[in-house]
Amino acid sequence: MNSNFLWGGATASYQCEGAWNVDDKAESMWDHYLHENDLENGDVASDHYHHFEEDIKMMKDGGQNAYRFSLSWPRIIKNRAGDINPKGIEFYNKLINCCLKNGITPFVTLYHWDLPQYWQEVGGWLNLDTSCAFAHYAEVCFKAFGDKVKLWTTFNEPKWFTVNGYLIGNYPPAEHDLQHTITCGFNVMYASALAIQKFRQGKFQGQIGIVHSYSPIDGIDDTIETKIAMRNADNYANNWVLDTAALGSFPIDLLAKLSETNDISFMKSDLLKTIAENTVDFLGLNYYARTLVKPYTTGETKMVFNNSGKKGSTQMRIKNWFEQVMDPNSEYTEWDTEIYPKGLEDGLIRAYQKYHLPIFVTENGVGFHENINVSEVKDDYRISFMNDHINALMNAQDKGADVRGYFTWSPFDLYSWMNGVEKRYGLVAVDFSTLKRKPKASYFWYKKIINSNGKLV
Ligand code: NOJ
Repeated sequence: MNSNFLWGGATASYQCEGAWNVDDKAESMWDHYLHENDLENGDVASDHYHHFEEDIKMMKDGGQNAYRFSLSWPRIIKNRAGDINPKGIEFYNKLINCCLKNGITPFVTLYHWDLPQYWQEVGGWLNLDTSCAFAHYAEVCFKAFGDKVKLWTTFNEPKWFTVNGYLIGNYPPAEHDLQHTITCGFNVMYASALAIQKFRQGKFQGQIGIVHSYSPIDGIDDTIETKIAMRNADNYANNWVLDTAALGSFPIDLLAKLSETNDISFMKSDLLKTIAENTVDFLGLNYYARTLVKPYTTGETKMVFNNSGKKGSTQMRIKNWFEQVMDPNSEYTEWDTEIYPKGLEDGLIRAYQKYHLPIFVTENGVGFHENINVSEVKDDYRISFMNDHINALMNAQDKGADVRGYFTWSPFDLYSWMNGVEKRYGLVAVDFSTLKRKPKASYFWYKKIINSNGKLV
């Protein structure tokens, strides 16, 4: 393992900062939606806004040399006119300086789902003005922090906020509309390209990429029907983000299939040209599980809940495309996520062979219900999960994939969207009533792995 390899943890502004209305921060779409519907929210979350020094110090003491976090757009830009909030800039300057002081490389995500509500009010990602506003916000960030931040990503997981927000309806704005899903996905990929264009035109130093929720596709057998289902699933789960960001174009068979049922005439040639001309320098891949598929048989498009019916189940069915299935021989988490480290090895190799770009594993980890009222949380399940996935990463490196970093989700417990704070991912326990932090066994284990530069897995 190269000594420049980044070993760290990843978080997102809404999920950890809290301080939702502090220091002139504007409301985000998540603030608005969760408050309106009286749902568990991230108003306080891990209160990273007031604890970031302690959190970063713990990362350093845990041997980590990188921190992936996101900037909150509504903390930085006050309104649709694009006015800057100096207090937002000041907060992130302090956070970035704290990273640098502790020898931690900041790895910055510009958008991890907290769209300003003032943009949601005028159509959000269905409105191309939002894409242009994103590019302005990105440029503000490059100018404010570009002397200190050298690794940027535009979006975190375009697939999940698009599909969950507009197709499944379990994220704001909670719609079930395929046409809107496609429009949102396109406008986001266009926004990403616009931000990259600003980065290059401004001659900012460093590299810029995108973070994708990567789910390599496997089929239940070798039949032609299954291979078609696999291709459809790959287009749905991966290619529309990765091909577009890395190669500059949407897969042509995807566009052909979409145009059978939907209007895609809004994908105008000048917008496609911007996408083609502004591809990424590297890929950030979040890996939790692969997708195992069989040919579509029957039923409407939906997230199919399995035996346990847990909220986080990701068994997807898309009408006339594919059906995702569970593997009876695999182990699954409490939230029906398959534990399948080999998918990371296969996926990294496939992605590198296809795109020839450097890759960072920008998220990997596992969520559990945990009793943290003990002297030390003995999270052997997390240690074993991370061990097997880091091992898979190293196998992929051995086979030629250019993997440059690993970020666990998450360095400390945080708010987990619709799962609230009940689903814990952290290496450090956060007591959400007192906000006290306490390392779990996995924190000390990760330190040993990092100190051995991965040799001990
Ligand atoms: C993906 C997302 O980036 C993050 O926000 C989420 O909480 C984790 N994975 C865990 O599901």
